[in-house]
Amino acid sequence: MKPVDGEPHAENGESREVRDKADASRRNSRLATPTDLDPADVEKVAKALNGCLADSFVLYMKIKNFHWHMSGPNFRDYHEMLDDHAEAVFGTIDELAERVRKIGARTLTSLSDALEQSQLVEQTRSDLAPDEMIRELLEDNKAVVAGMRKAHKVCDDAEDIASASLLENFVDATEKRCWFLFEIAQSATATGH
Ligand SMILES: [Fe+2]
Repeated sequence: MKPVDGEPHAENGESREVRDKADASRRNSRLATPTDLDPADVEKVAKALNGCLADSFVLYMKIKNFHWHMSGPNFRDYHEMLDDHAEAVFGTIDELAERVRKIGARTLTSLSDALEQSQLVEQTRSDLAPDEMIRELLEDNKAVVAGMRKAHKVCDDAEDIASASLLENFVDATEKRCWFLFEIAQSATATGH
Protein backbone atom coordinates (compact mmCIF):
# COMPACT_ATOMS: atom_id res chain seq x y z
CA MET A 1 0.00 0.00 0.00
CA LYS A 2 1.29 3.52 -0.85
CA PRO A 3 2.25 5.43 2.34
CA VAL A 4 0.03 8.39 3.20
CA ASP A 5 1.27 11.79 4.43
CA GLY A 6 2.75 11.58 7.91
CA GLU A 7 3.46 7.88 7.45
CA PRO A 8 6.17 7.86 4.78
CA HIS A 9 8.34 5.28 6.48
CA ALA A 10 5.84 3.28 8.43
CA GLU A 11 7.49 0.29 10.03
CA ASN A 12 5.65 -2.19 12.19
CA GLY A 13 2.57 0.03 11.94
CA GLU A 14 4.34 2.99 13.64
CA SER A 15 4.51 6.27 11.71
CA ARG A 16 7.45 8.67 11.86
CA GLU A 17 5.15 11.20 13.57
CA VAL A 18 4.36 8.75 16.36
CA ARG A 19 8.04 7.82 16.72
CA ASP A 20 9.06 11.51 16.84
CA LYS A 21 6.47 12.19 19.53
CA ALA A 22 7.67 9.25 21.60
CA ASP A 23 11.27 10.42 21.17
CA ALA A 24 10.39 13.98 22.27
CA SER A 25 8.54 12.60 25.25
CA ARG A 26 11.57 10.45 26.25
CA ARG A 27 13.85 13.49 25.92
CA ASN A 28 11.47 15.62 28.00
CA SER A 29 11.12 13.02 30.71
CA ARG A 30 14.93 12.79 31.02
CA LEU A 31 14.96 16.49 32.01
CA ALA A 32 11.87 16.39 34.26
CA THR A 33 13.58 16.67 37.64
CA PRO A 34 10.97 15.67 40.25
CA THR A 35 9.48 18.51 42.31
CA ASP A 36 6.47 18.95 44.55
CA LEU A 37 5.85 22.44 43.11
CA ASP A 38 2.73 22.92 41.00
CA PRO A 39 3.61 22.46 37.28
CA ALA A 40 2.02 25.82 36.38
CA ASP A 41 4.09 27.50 39.10
CA VAL A 42 7.27 25.79 37.85
CA GLU A 43 6.70 27.42 34.47
CA LYS A 44 6.23 30.87 36.04
CA VAL A 45 9.24 30.54 38.35
CA ALA A 46 11.45 29.28 35.50
CA LYS A 47 10.45 32.22 33.31
CA ALA A 48 11.20 34.68 36.12
CA LEU A 49 14.55 33.06 37.01
CA ASN A 50 15.57 32.78 33.35
CA GLY A 51 14.90 36.52 33.02
CA CYS A 52 17.26 37.20 35.95
CA LEU A 53 19.81 34.82 34.43
CA ALA A 54 19.59 36.63 31.09
CA ASP A 55 20.18 39.94 32.90
CA SER A 56 23.27 38.48 34.57
CA PHE A 57 24.75 37.45 31.22
CA VAL A 58 24.20 40.88 29.64
CA LEU A 59 25.35 42.77 32.73
CA TYR A 60 28.47 40.59 33.10
CA MET A 61 29.54 41.30 29.52
CA LYS A 62 28.88 45.02 29.92
CA ILE A 63 30.88 45.27 33.15
CA LYS A 64 33.79 43.45 31.49
CA ASN A 65 33.54 45.78 28.48
CA PHE A 66 33.86 48.78 30.82
CA HIS A 67 36.56 47.07 32.93
CA TRP A 68 38.60 46.64 29.75
CA HIS A 69 37.91 50.06 28.25
CA MET A 70 38.05 52.24 31.37
CA SER A 71 40.44 55.20 31.30
CA GLY A 72 41.38 58.30 33.28
CA PRO A 73 42.96 59.23 36.62
CA ASN A 74 40.76 56.77 38.57
CA PHE A 75 41.55 53.93 36.19
CA ARG A 76 42.99 51.61 38.80
CA ASP A 77 40.08 52.07 41.25
CA TYR A 78 37.35 51.76 38.63
CA HIS A 79 39.09 48.93 36.76
CA GLU A 80 39.45 46.88 39.94
CA MET A 81 35.98 47.68 41.29
CA LEU A 82 34.44 46.57 38.00
CA ASP A 83 36.36 43.31 38.18
CA ASP A 84 34.84 42.68 41.63
CA HIS A 85 31.39 43.51 40.24
CA ALA A 86 31.88 41.22 37.25
CA GLU A 87 32.95 38.36 39.50
CA ALA A 88 29.86 38.77 41.71
CA VAL A 89 27.53 38.85 38.70
CA PHE A 90 29.28 35.83 37.16
CA GLY A 91 28.66 33.98 40.42
CA THR A 92 24.90 34.34 39.98
CA ILE A 93 24.85 32.67 36.55
CA ASP A 94 25.32 29.03 37.45
CA GLU A 95 23.22 29.35 40.63
CA LEU A 96 20.22 30.77 38.76
CA ALA A 97 20.44 28.26 35.90
CA GLU A 98 20.75 25.33 38.29
CA ARG A 99 17.73 26.52 40.33
CA VAL A 100 15.70 26.29 37.12
CA ARG A 101 16.96 22.75 36.48
CA LYS A 102 16.41 21.72 40.10
CA ILE A 103 12.70 22.32 39.65
CA GLY A 104 12.66 20.43 36.34
CA ALA A 105 12.39 23.35 33.93
CA ARG A 106 14.64 24.35 31.04
CA THR A 107 17.08 27.21 31.23
CA LEU A 108 18.98 29.30 28.67
CA THR A 109 20.97 27.58 25.95
CA SER A 110 22.70 30.44 24.10
CA LEU A 111 23.83 34.05 24.25
CA SER A 112 21.07 34.99 21.80
CA ASP A 113 18.62 33.43 24.28
CA ALA A 114 20.09 35.71 26.98
CA LEU A 115 19.82 38.83 24.82
CA GLU A 116 16.23 37.99 23.94
CA GLN A 117 15.13 37.36 27.53
CA SER A 118 17.04 40.16 29.26
CA GLN A 119 15.49 43.51 30.10
CA LEU A 120 18.97 45.06 29.67
CA VAL A 121 20.42 46.37 26.44
CA GLU A 122 23.97 45.36 25.59
CA GLN A 123 26.62 48.03 25.09
CA THR A 124 28.83 47.53 22.04
CA ARG A 125 30.74 50.81 22.34
CA SER A 126 34.20 50.88 23.87
CA ASP A 127 34.69 54.67 23.86
CA LEU A 128 32.28 55.79 26.61
CA ALA A 129 33.62 58.30 29.13
CA PRO A 130 34.21 57.00 32.68
CA ASP A 131 31.16 58.85 34.08
CA GLU A 132 28.94 57.45 31.31
CA MET A 133 30.09 53.92 32.10
CA ILE A 134 29.44 54.35 35.82
CA ARG A 135 25.98 55.87 35.29
CA GLU A 136 24.98 53.21 32.78
CA LEU A 137 26.00 50.45 35.18
CA LEU A 138 24.09 52.16 38.00
CA GLU A 139 20.90 52.18 35.90
CA ASP A 140 21.40 48.55 34.83
CA ASN A 141 22.00 47.37 38.39
CA LYS A 142 18.89 49.24 39.54
CA ALA A 143 16.91 47.47 36.81
CA VAL A 144 18.39 44.13 37.89
CA VAL A 145 17.26 44.71 41.50
CA ALA A 146 13.74 45.54 40.29
CA GLY A 147 13.71 42.41 38.09
CA MET A 148 14.87 40.20 40.94
CA ARG A 149 12.27 41.69 43.26
CA LYS A 150 9.53 40.80 40.74
CA ALA A 151 10.98 37.30 40.36
CA HIS A 152 11.07 36.96 44.15
CA LYS A 153 7.32 37.65 44.29
CA VAL A 154 6.71 34.90 41.69
CA CYS A 155 8.82 32.47 43.75
CA ASP A 156 7.02 33.47 46.95
CA ASP A 157 3.61 32.92 45.36
CA ALA A 158 4.76 29.49 44.19
CA GLU A 159 6.15 28.67 47.66
CA ASP A 160 9.54 28.10 46.04
CA ILE A 161 11.43 29.16 49.13
CA ALA A 162 14.85 28.10 47.86
CA SER A 163 14.65 30.30 44.74
CA ALA A 164 13.32 33.20 46.82
CA SER A 165 16.17 32.82 49.30
CA LEU A 166 18.76 32.74 46.51
CA LEU A 167 17.32 35.95 45.06
CA GLU A 168 17.41 37.67 48.46
CA ASN A 169 21.20 37.29 48.56
CA PHE A 170 21.57 38.45 44.97
CA VAL A 171 19.39 41.53 45.64
CA ASP A 172 21.64 42.45 48.57
CA ALA A 173 24.80 42.12 46.43
CA THR A 174 23.23 44.13 43.59
CA GLU A 175 22.14 46.87 45.99
CA LYS A 176 25.74 47.05 47.22
CA ARG A 177 26.93 47.59 43.65
CA CYS A 178 24.25 50.29 43.25
CA TRP A 179 25.51 52.00 46.41
CA PHE A 180 29.11 52.13 45.17
CA LEU A 181 28.13 53.22 41.66
CA PHE A 182 25.76 55.86 43.01
CA GLU A 183 28.45 57.37 45.25
CA ILE A 184 30.94 57.46 42.40
CA ALA A 185 28.36 58.77 39.89
CA GLN A 186 27.69 61.84 42.05
CA SER A 187 31.13 63.23 41.39
CA ALA A 188 32.25 61.36 38.28
CA THR A 189 33.20 63.47 35.25
CA ALA A 190 33.85 62.76 31.60
CA THR A 191 37.60 63.01 32.20
CA GLY A 192 37.38 60.43 34.97
CA HIS A 193 38.01 62.89 37.87
FE1 LIG B 1 40.84 41.97 34.18
